[in-house]
Amino acid sequence: MSGSLTGAALLRDAMANRGTAFSEAERDALGLRGLLPPAVEKPERQVARVIDNLKRQATDLDRYCWLMALRERSEVLFQRTLLDHLAELLPLVYTPTVGQACQQFGRIFQAPRGLYVTANDRGRIGELLRRWPAGPVRAIVVTDGSRILGLGDLGANGMGIPIGKLELYSACGGIAPQSCLPVMLDVGIDNEALRDDPYYLGLRQPRLQGEAYDALLEEFVCAVQECFPGALLQFEDFSNRNAFALLARYRERLCCFNDDIQGTGAMGLAAVNSALRITGGRLTEQRLLFAGAGEAALGIATMVKAAMVEQGLSPEQARERCWLLDTQGLLVAGRAGLPAHKLPHAQQREPLTDLPEAIAALQPTILIGASGVGQLFSEEVVTALASHCERPVVFALSNPTAKAECSAQQAYEWTGGRAIFAAGSPFAPVEFSGRTLVPGQANNAYIFPGMGLGLLTSGATRVSDAMFFAAADALAAQVSDADLASGRIFPGQDRLREVAIAVAVAVAGIAWRDSLATLPRPADPEMAILASMYRPSYPACTA
Ligand code: NAI
Repeated sequence: MSGSLTGAALLRDAMANRGTAFSEAERDALGLRGLLPPAVEKPERQVARVIDNLKRQATDLDRYCWLMALRERSEVLFQRTLLDHLAELLPLVYTPTVGQACQQFGRIFQAPRGLYVTANDRGRIGELLRRWPAGPVRAIVVTDGSRILGLGDLGANGMGIPIGKLELYSACGGIAPQSCLPVMLDVGIDNEALRDDPYYLGLRQPRLQGEAYDALLEEFVCAVQECFPGALLQFEDFSNRNAFALLARYRERLCCFNDDIQGTGAMGLAAVNSALRITGGRLTEQRLLFAGAGEAALGIATMVKAAMVEQGLSPEQARERCWLLDTQGLLVAGRAGLPAHKLPHAQQREPLTDLPEAIAALQPTILIGASGVGQLFSEEVVTALASHCERPVVFALSNPTAKAECSAQQAYEWTGGRAIFAAGSPFAPVEFSGRTLVPGQANNAYIFPGMGLGLLTSGATRVSDAMFFAAADALAAQVSDADLASGRIFPGQDRLREVAIAVAVAVAGIAWRDSLATLPRPADPEMAILASMYRPSYPACTA
């Protein structure tokens, strides 16, 4: 449609607008002369101006707002800037700044983006989906806002997360922005402070639960299948009250996955394997202690145990090497009220409720925080770990930064520089005893863009566990010896697009191998994937 636009209307169309990059000939042909300053600029100059402007902003949230406003003016310039400055801009469009943006969503709101489906839309969800103007829709990220990062229930404010995730789908996974659909399922909010905030933009009612919730989800998923057949559906930041049940209900019905459980699981397994390349230890000899037994921790524990079994342990032996501790203490058999998804992780042991006590009793070699509790790893906790480990492995996965279980600086200081540390949010390198220690960013951003690209390239009908194992291996293979030498167990973030390609090749390979693909395998899958990827450039002009 934008191909027929001219004059001021063309400059207001974010998908078609290229601002000062319109050529002299285009300005004449499209009725733009006089509506633009006379300079004709290359996209590189436009990108440089964006970066200059971002530097001048006072806070990261201001930078976030500036970028979102840019996106309203020019989608291509936004995507191009993001891709050219990925490592620099990731902390703005993704964790940690996106957390602040969600908390302030109603206050910083400028223009709607994505689709809002509410508890009041029963019976007409298909109609709403068909109203979506762009397309064809290939990737959908949906949240109900009930567990946004480690910030809890943010209701409709959580829309910032699907928007941010899909920005990575385009920048890293090469999936065109017009094929990406962020969805907020607004089923109400139980966070009273936000519900009473005058700027809150969602439904001001308690969350839908039980059958009414399930029925809304069912209608939504059926509508997705009908309106956007073959699209990938990614569940994001659902509280664990619903996340496990939704995954179990839908994973055999359509191409879908839960990023917090499965994406994090693959990322976590890759992180553990990379850390072992530094320590020299074998996976089957490790003892893992998780602080947290929610989606992230259970996702990683499930993957790690399966990998241990593949390497020769019995399921029972693998279970005995992975311990999980939540607000009620260790997951142990007989603990009252253990939900079904936690039962396979419960151990035969006396209960223990205290983290330092658990470390002393279980002597873990790897400590993984996925609790959403900032500073949970105190000096006492980290030194207890370091007292029996030559190279203690500490992952503080909770987001955003303030929720990290400890900082990079703390982990290195409290272990005399011996820790192998990674965190969900970015931490700057730390100078320690004349060495520069570089913490890795243990984030599922290393998995989901490539997972999506691989699924869509193969036309996968389902998302299998084997695909997540392949993704974990592909990610681990991208970690170089130079990365490890600096202590970093993930590739640099400037390489996220390369990582996504490697993950996509691996995932699509499983789809073709296991008859889950609907599209034919090309002679050279990597070349085909590369050729299919979106690159932000201005569309050919009809002038
Ligand atoms: P969740 O709500 O499913 O699980 C949180 C778990 O932590 C629960 O089991 C809870 O009982 C436990 N917990 C809370 N306080 C605790 C305490 N003081 N001691 C021990 N356990 C405690 O949440 P989910 O999805 O597992 O996410 C947890 C955190 O991990 C969030 O901050 C989220 O942002 C982060 N995360 C990071 C990812 C990454 O790629 N780095 C991916 C997914 C989640």
